[in-house]
Amino acid sequence: MNASVSDFLETGNIMIIPLFQDTVKAPNNTTVGLSRSASITLKSAISSDSFGGKEEEIISIWTKQCQIILLGMGENSNLDTKKSRDIGAKCFSNLSENKGKNIVIRFTTGWNTENMASFAEGMILRDYTFDKYQKKINDKKQDSEWKIVCQTTKRLRKNLDLEIKKLSSIATGVHLARDLGNEPANRLYPEEFGRRAKDWAKGKENVEVEVWDFSRLKEEGMNALIEVGKGSIHKPCMVFFRLNPSLETEMQVPCIVGKGITFDSGGISIKGSAGMDEMKLDMHGSATVFGLFQALYATGYQGRVNGITCMAENMPSAEAYRPGDVIDTYSGKTIEVLNTDAEGRNVLADGLWKASELNPSYIIDLATLTGSIVVALGHEATGLFTNDEILSKRIEKAGDEVDEICWPMPLLPAFEKQMTSSKIADVRNQGKGRWGGAIQAAGFLKQFVQERENNQGEKTQIPWAHLDIAGTAGIWGGESNATVGHGATGIQVRTLHRLITKK
Ligand code: BES
Ligand code: MN
Ligand code: ZN
Repeated sequence: MNASVSDFLETGNIMIIPLFQDTVKAPNNTTVGLSRSASITLKSAISSDSFGGKEEEIISIWTKQCQIILLGMGENSNLDTKKSRDIGAKCFSNLSENKGKNIVIRFTTGWNTENMASFAEGMILRDYTFDKYQKKINDKKQDSEWKIVCQTTKRLRKNLDLEIKKLSSIATGVHLARDLGNEPANRLYPEEFGRRAKDWAKGKENVEVEVWDFSRLKEEGMNALIEVGKGSIHKPCMVFFRLNPSLETEMQVPCIVGKGITFDSGGISIKGSAGMDEMKLDMHGSATVFGLFQALYATGYQGRVNGITCMAENMPSAEAYRPGDVIDTYSGKTIEVLNTDAEGRNVLADGLWKASELNPSYIIDLATLTGSIVVALGHEATGLFTNDEILSKRIEKAGDEVDEICWPMPLLPAFEKQMTSSKIADVRNQGKGRWGGAIQAAGFLKQFVQERENNQGEKTQIPWAHLDIAGTAGIWGGESNATVGHGATGIQVRTLHRLITKK
C-alpha cells in the first residue's frame, strides 16, 4: 500500500469521510473538488437523519466522480488509537477493488495526528492476504497496489506524514511475520527459514544473519534443539539475527529469542487431529523475531540488537525423541522428557542459554508455548512472565501504546518447583498436572536464563521476559484482531519495535 498525506484536493475513486457523532453539518473542506451536484448530495446526507456518525455506521453515496463513504466514528472524546485503527482496518476490509484502488481519506474537524495515523495504520495492516497458492485468484488479480491519500489541514500534515512513513515501515515487518507464520510446513521448514533469513540480509549493510546447521548444532552442543528436531527429515537449525553488529559493541543490548517449531505434531506424544493444521504456526515466535528485525531495519534504527530463533520440526518417527528420555542441553543441565509435545520449552532452553552468553541488557522470548495461556487469556492478550519488574512494566507499556496487550502473569514458585523436581534429571519438561500449565512452562524456561554479577557483586538473573503468544499469534475465524483477516497476526512486532526504539 502506498500511503501519503496531502491537502484537500483530489477525490480518488473512493472517498472516505470519517465523521464524529452528531455531526449535523458538513465540516469545512468536506466537499472540495466535488461537482456541484455531488456536493449537494453529500451535504444533505450528512445533515439527514439517516446518518448520525455513530460508531461503525456507514453510508455509501454514489456519484459520477467517485464513491463516497461516510463513516461513523462515535463520540470524538471516546476515540483512541485502538478504535481508530480498528475502524480503519474494518473499513478497508469492506472495500472492493472493482471501484479502483485510489482511496482518499478526508479528515475534517476534530482529528489529531495520533488518531489519523492509527486509522491509516489500520488500513495498511489490513491490506494483507496470503494468496500466493491460490492460482485462480492470482491470475485475475490486479497487480496495482492500493493507494491511500490522507487529507488534513496544513498544520498537521508534516507530522502525520512522518508518522505514517514510520508506521508503514513497521508494517512491512508485521507482514513479513505473517507471511512466515502462514507458510505451510511443507514449504517452510527450519533450513528454509534460515535460507530466507540469509536472503533477507543480502545487500543490507548493517545486518548480519548466521545459520547454525545440524552439524554445527552438534559441534556446539545444542542438544535440546537437536533432540526435538531429530525425528523429522527436515533437520533443525539456529538462526542469529544481528542489527548494527559493529556499533556499541561494549554496550549491553537486547536479545530477542523465538520458538520456531515449523510444525508441531506433538511428536511421539502425538496431538489429536482436530486443528492440527494450525500447528504450522508454531514458529510464530521466530516469525516475530524475523519481522521485528525487518521493522527495525526499515525504520533505520541505529542501535545494536540481537535475535536468536530456534528452528525445528516436531515429528514422530523411528528417530524421534521419546517420553522418558533424558536429554542433555546446551546449558549442561539435563531434561527429563515426560511429554514430547512440550517441545517448545526444550528448544528455548538452548536458545535462552545462548542468549545469556551474549551478556544482553535483557532477554525476551516469544513462543506459542501453551494451550493453557489460551484458556487463561483467550485471544485477547499475550501472557507476560518475567523475573524483572522494570522490564515487565516497560513491555506492558509498549504493548498498551500499540494496542497489543501483554498481560502480566505470575511466575509462582510452586510451579517452578514442579519443574525442578524430576527424580532422575535436573528439570522435567512437564508439570505435575494440568493446572497452571502456562506458569509451569515459564518456570521451566527460567531455569535456562543465566545469572551474572551485578554492580554490588551479587549474582542475579539476567532480566528476562517470556511472552506466551499461543492465543494471539493466529486468527482462525475469530474477531479479536481487526487488523487481520485470517491466519498469522504478526503479533508483537509492533510492541517490540516500540520497546526497543522508544527512549
Ligand atoms: N505448540 C503447542 C502450544 C499451542 C497450543 C500453541 C495451541 C498454539 C495453540 C505446544 O508445543 C504444546 O503442545 N503445549 C502443550 C504442553 C503440554 C504437553 C505440557 C499444551 O499446552 O498442551
Ligand atoms: Mn507441542
Ligand atoms: Zn509447540
